[in-house]
Amino acid sequence: VSSRESDPGSATASAERAASEYRTIFDARGGRYNHANRLFPDARAEEGDRLLAHLSLPDRVRWLDVGAGGGFLVERAAAAGRRGEPVACDASALFLSEARGYALRTAGDYECLPFPDGAFGAAGCLAVIHHAEDPERVVSEMLRVTAPGGRAAVGDVAAGSRAERFLNGFVDAHTEEGHAGRFRGAPEAGELFARGGGRDVRTEAVRVFWRFGSSSDARFFFRELFGLRGDTEDADLDAAIDWLGLFESADGCRLPWDMVFASALVGV
Ligand SMILES: C[S@@+](CC[C@H](N)C(=O)[O-])C[C@H]1O[C@@H](n2cnc3c(N)ncnc32)[C@H](O)[C@@H]1O
Repeated sequence: VSSRESDPGSATASAERAASEYRTIFDARGGRYNHANRLFPDARAEEGDRLLAHLSLPDRVRWLDVGAGGGFLVERAAAAGRRGEPVACDASALFLSEARGYALRTAGDYECLPFPDGAFGAAGCLAVIHHAEDPERVVSEMLRVTAPGGRAAVGDVAAGSRAERFLNGFVDAHTEEGHAGRFRGAPEAGELFARGGGRDVRTEAVRVFWRFGSSSDARFFFRELFGLRGDTEDADLDAAIDWLGLFESADGCRLPWDMVFASALVGV
């Protein structure tokens, strides 16, 4: 038994506990999450495209998707004609087992990425870091595995937004596993990269719009993506979606979703 294992109160033990709890959540609900993204591949398209824009992937680059889940980001990259060699890393092998489109899929923890220094031309991480015990460590790991001249980028829900309140309120109350994410604003996200030694740090706080054909599609997407319990009433969910700001547009419905993106260049 290592000293780490024998000290359940240590910071390492608590990070391991959190990682294992989160893995259990995604082992349990990854199937429904992937199902939602597959059925409605355009719903979250804007946020995927924003993250990819931060990475500015060169052609044929080998790049890493951290917390890849079911492969939403790589599917966006393919839709945008990015050929490269994407590699997935996720704590949940079960979640990852459904991901297609990667040259390699690896089960591993974002606080200790199982790759050598400079293994990738870029590293991205979408909708993941709000559950990290030590987000600075995640970002410094992303910078470590990115080769000089490449960029690392994260994108997540913005602190103080309705999306944050929805996740830590409604989703927390209506799922078996609950939800308690720690979100940040753009300056704080940028700091993670600056403290990790990243250069040319770029940040943006941006309102993206989730897209649906109709409000009933939105309701179905929300149920599946967030793994809501069966006893969640449609009326309650509809009220929450309305509160988030769903509105009709010329070609369907849009839902505002405030996010923060941050990225940095790895110095040569
Ligand atoms: C909300 S999903 C996002 C999935 C994907 N990036 C997307 O945008 O659809 C969060 C992902 O983070 C992964 N994850 C959670 N904790 C992790 C950890 N400690 N190391 C690596 N991945 C982790 C989960 O298994 C899950 O796949």
